[in-house]
Amino acid sequence: MTKVAIVYYSSYGSTHAMAQRLAETAEKRGAEVRLRHVKETAPAEAYGAQEAWKAHVDAMADEPVAAPEDLEWADVVVMGSPTRYGHVTSQMQGFIDTLGPLWSEGKLADKVYTAFTSSQTKHGGQETTLQAFHTTFAHLGGIIVPPGYTDPVKFTDGNPYGVGKVTGAGGDLDDDDHAVLDHLVTRAITIAERLNGSAAA
Ligand SMILES: Cc1cc2nc3c(=O)[nH]c(=O)nc-3n(C[C@H](O)[C@H](O)[C@H](O)COP(=O)(O)O)c2cc1C
Repeated sequence: MTKVAIVYYSSYGSTHAMAQRLAETAEKRGAEVRLRHVKETAPAEAYGAQEAWKAHVDAMADEPVAAPEDLEWADVVVMGSPTRYGHVTSQMQGFIDTLGPLWSEGKLADKVYTAFTSSQTKHGGQETTLQAFHTTFAHLGGIIVPPGYTDPVKFTDGNPYGVGKVTGAGGDLDDDDHAVLDHLVTRAITIAERLNGSAAA
């Protein structure tokens, strides 16, 4: 079985919903999946002052938290973060900053990596956020697998760098979102299977 780690951060739940869809699709595809959220590092007085943020922190209290070893374990790593000023969140960057020991041993290299994001606005920095992930993946020695326009569904979100959800109008995932998320994770698994020689002929 291909091992897939879906490692993401979410403040309000939109990126969380994307991660859940990725996990469901990967499992249906026959993969072994670890769905792991990056823990909240903002001070309680910050998230406590926002009802939706606090509600999501509370909802995630008993869910498994991402650890560097989840990346070491995986054949495919799918990382997601909301766009923050055109970049990944500080929470996600803080997690990335804990990868040093495994990185220095080369244990995060030679895996398939791909990424997803959500942003409030259409031109609000999704592509720079995804490219920030790609920069990290390059430093890890990862095999970066962007979706490109390798399937007609990619003409719905028009994002060849990964998957981006525009949440401004509400944030619920629609059929087009499901299609591009399904394509992203299925493609990543297929490429990993080809790399390790387990792909169907
Ligand atoms: C501090 C902060 C910075 C943000 N920066 C951007 C941005 O640069 N562009 C954008 O379109 N949305 C921006 N947003 C909106 C979030 O990216 C958007 O609401 C996202 O879907 C939230 O994902 P979540 O529900 O998983 O937390 C920002 C939100 C916050 C709180």
